[in-house]
Amino acid sequence: MNVKVFYGPDNAFKEFIEETTFVTMNDIMLQVIEIDRSFTIRSEGSEYEPKEFFYETIVCHRQEYSSMSINSINNIMLILKNVKFNTLYFQNPPNNIIEVIRRNFVVDFIYYDYGKIGVQSLIEFKRLFRDRLIGQEKALNVLLPVLNIPKVRSSQKPIVIMFYGPPGVGKTETAKLISQAIYGSDKIKRFQLSMFQTDQAYRFLFGSKPQEDSLAKSLMSRETNVILLDEFDKVHPNLYSAFYELFDEGQIVDGNYTAKADNSIFICTSNYLTTSEIEKNVGGAIFSRITECIKFEPLNENEKLKIMTTEFKRSFESLALDDKEKLSHLEEEMLLELSSDIDEYVNTRDIKNTVDMYLSYKLLKELRVL
Ligand SMILES: Nc1ncnc2c1ncn2[C@@H]1O[C@H](COP(=O)(O)OP(=O)(O)OP(=O)(O)O)[C@@H](O)[C@H]1O
Ligand SMILES: [Mg+2]
Repeated sequence: MNVKVFYGPDNAFKEFIEETTFVTMNDIMLQVIEIDRSFTIRSEGSEYEPKEFFYETIVCHRQEYSSMSINSINNIMLILKNVKFNTLYFQNPPNNIIEVIRRNFVVDFIYYDYGKIGVQSLIEFKRLFRDRLIGQEKALNVLLPVLNIPKVRSSQKPIVIMFYGPPGVGKTETAKLISQAIYGSDKIKRFQLSMFQTDQAYRFLFGSKPQEDSLAKSLMSRETNVILLDEFDKVHPNLYSAFYELFDEGQIVDGNYTAKADNSIFICTSNYLTTSEIEKNVGGAIFSRITECIKFEPLNENEKLKIMTTEFKRSFESLALDDKEKLSHLEEEMLLELSSDIDEYVNTRDIKNTVDMYLSYKLLKELRVL
């Protein structure tokens, strides 16, 4: 009987399973009542021979732990003692399952390989960054060598980067571009750390029940190794210790799960304007674990103007053909009018919203709805 424990995202797990037909652990759970009854009968010393359960392949997907009660998770071993199988797969199981299966089987552990950033991805990142972001060349020049660190150091330690600066200047966008360049997908693993109350945050960071979401649990199924800890400065200072081992060793063990984050790129963001403000707020212990703080500059008038022109052209081009025709004689005039108020726009989000609102208004005017 082979037991294989796989750590990684759903798609990769699907590919990893060699067999095309299998039963899930949940299917087996549904038969648990029957198995339970046979236990009872056996323990009462009856002559009744319990039914033998045999399955070629059993698969336990990560979602299955969510629908199991704690009791049934603990009972998995009891169940496995009463079924026979050739291969049993677990995806991202909780620690207590690992403990029991290790005691009873020889277990293969397989970790999904997220890969390391290579020079080619750095070149791609630089191209994407220059193409999409205006006025952040200084940030790019610090970021490139920071992203290259895994190539020059022997350990698998994660890189921890703090992006800081005013809102709407490209911090989150940059995290997505890194993921896009390395993994071909902007699906970064994003944690919004400001949304928790303290007790919720505690349960999320340190783990409570195996069924509940936690930092470790969701890290296990991430698709990319770019992990965004948005508004990192909003974490309660007492809870920062949850990140120590993760940043130092690339591992987090909570009450239920153990997640590995070798070679990961953690991107923390905050709206502070100086590194001394960051240090004061997050405390020395976390601050010293940050590989590099990278400043995103506020945008000057010229840069805002460039962004506005790009945004305007993009929105204008995406109009339906007949709408575009109706407005085309106004194109230059609209751009001029929008530009005249450029100093009033605070950041890029502001610019985007204003452009869209303005175009929408002009269109309704042209259609005589307004
Ligand atoms: N420097 C820039 N040049 C061009 N577009 C930008 C720039 N900065 C931001 N944008 C665009 O503005 C939007 C918001 O940017 P983003 O989410 O990166 O802001 P942020 O810096 O993370 O802000 P916050 O601190 O509020 O989270 C994105 O769609 C992004 O593409
Ligand atoms: Mg952001």
